[in-house]
Amino acid sequence: MFTSLRRLNNLNQFVRYYSSEPTLKQRLIQIIPAKVEQVKQLKTEHGDKIIGTCTVAQAYGGMRSVKSLVTETSSLDPEEGIRFRGFTIPECQAKLPKAPGGEEPLPEGILWLLMTGEIPSESQVKQLSKDLAARSGLPQFVTEMIQKFPKTMHPMSQLSAAVLALQSGSKFTQAYQKGIKKDQYWDATFEDSLDLIAKLPEVAALIYRNTFKDGKVSHKVDENLDWSANFNRMLGFNSKEFDELMRLYLTIHTDHEGGNVSAHTTHLVGSALSDPYLSFTAGMCGLAGPLHGLANQEVLTWTLDLQKKLNNQQVSNEKLAEVVWEGLNAGRVVPGFGHAVLRKTDPRYTCQREFALKHLPNDPLFKLVSQIYEVVPDVLTKQGKTKNPYPNVDAHSGCLLQYYQLKEHEYYTVLFGVSRAIGVLSSLVWDRILSHPIERPKSVTSEWIAKFCQESK
Ligand SMILES: CC(C)(COP(=O)(O)OP(=O)(O)OC[C@H]1O[C@@H](n2cnc3c(N)ncnc32)[C@H](O)[C@@H]1OP(=O)(O)O)[C@@H](O)C(=O)NCCC(=O)NCCS
Repeated sequence: MFTSLRRLNNLNQFVRYYSSEPTLKQRLIQIIPAKVEQVKQLKTEHGDKIIGTCTVAQAYGGMRSVKSLVTETSSLDPEEGIRFRGFTIPECQAKLPKAPGGEEPLPEGILWLLMTGEIPSESQVKQLSKDLAARSGLPQFVTEMIQKFPKTMHPMSQLSAAVLALQSGSKFTQAYQKGIKKDQYWDATFEDSLDLIAKLPEVAALIYRNTFKDGKVSHKVDENLDWSANFNRMLGFNSKEFDELMRLYLTIHTDHEGGNVSAHTTHLVGSALSDPYLSFTAGMCGLAGPLHGLANQEVLTWTLDLQKKLNNQQVSNEKLAEVVWEGLNAGRVVPGFGHAVLRKTDPRYTCQREFALKHLPNDPLFKLVSQIYEVVPDVLTKQGKTKNPYPNVDAHSGCLLQYYQLKEHEYYTVLFGVSRAIGVLSSLVWDRILSHPIERPKSVTSEWIAKFCQESK
């Protein structure tokens, strides 16, 4: 029986290898040589061209707009917003494969797109869903560890700790210890990345069930379901509409070019050849900050507080503005508004708004979020501090999750993290393909700056 099963597996592999539809890894193997050659040529022929400079203000100011990182997977225009490998969100929604009867893109499709730069076919995405299903499953000790975490431990801390525990299965670390060649680093990084992306939904679902429910995940990953639907079943949700929301949610949160905290941290830690589990954990610790991913939790807390303050009543824009001013005058930021790069409404906000207009136009919380959108940009503009008074991705996601009864806002950043894995790990694979070296920018002291400024007067 086992021999014939093995034969069948080999046959499947053979058919896949020689079929016209390459797997994700086979496609990468086809793409890599030309890209490596292109980058080699760029470095040799144009290595000394200046692409960015850094002023004293930028050095003190979080290096805003300093062009000093290379990230292949996506780019962010301040006015237009994100493009994933050149495609806008509406283009991704139109072009990426969908679930049967669905309208939103499957995250497996954006994983393929970010890795290869190409829109996959439906069968390639289906095959990738099956590959991820085959890689899913947690070691018993990781399950038990999560189940033992106290309910008071923040879900993001549980996520980081759980991924660190999974690191014991890193194929990259094993291969590195055996002494693989540098041009093969990407292969084990790819394997770890896909393993981790496959395992994250169960990790995240277990954290949810452990913190807020009965501590058990009863759904077993079904290879005929897509990655998001499997995740939803493990969380304990079984609704076609919520599946659609999660497909959209998990697609749009994947990547936001390379300089944001979670992407940059994953890249930085990965540059020390720390394996994908270690690198991603570091990124997640950054995502857990309130100015970054945790803002989606903060937005919900802020919006529900606001709703309470307004006694659940609809109020005029003037009254709403007054309440927003109160918070600002008390020195608090309006969560979900502003951005370090964007200068217009985030298209990730817009597509969630469109989803709400289609599926929950009369939901009271959505109506409040819409009114906040009408009021806050004007208030922030009048306050005159923020460079971007418009909403970002986090201003909308919570109200959608609330509508579908995923009410526990402390958990929201974990969903962001599950999605972000797709972007930052695709980037990490390319870091290894292109042999990016250990990152080590030069730092200077304030004394050095003072002396430099004095001398250059
Ligand atoms: C995202 C964010 C961290 C970007 O920071 P940044 O690049 O330094 O933003 P700016 O250059 O516009 O900041 C200039 C000033 O405006 C303030 N500001 C920015 N966004 C603000 C907001 N939403 N509410 C109130 N004040 C805000 C900043 O705190 C800063 O004040 P300071 O000079 O007193 O320190 C910032 O907009 C913010 O804190 N937003 C709320 C949190 C959030 O939504 N984060 C998720 C981002 S995807």
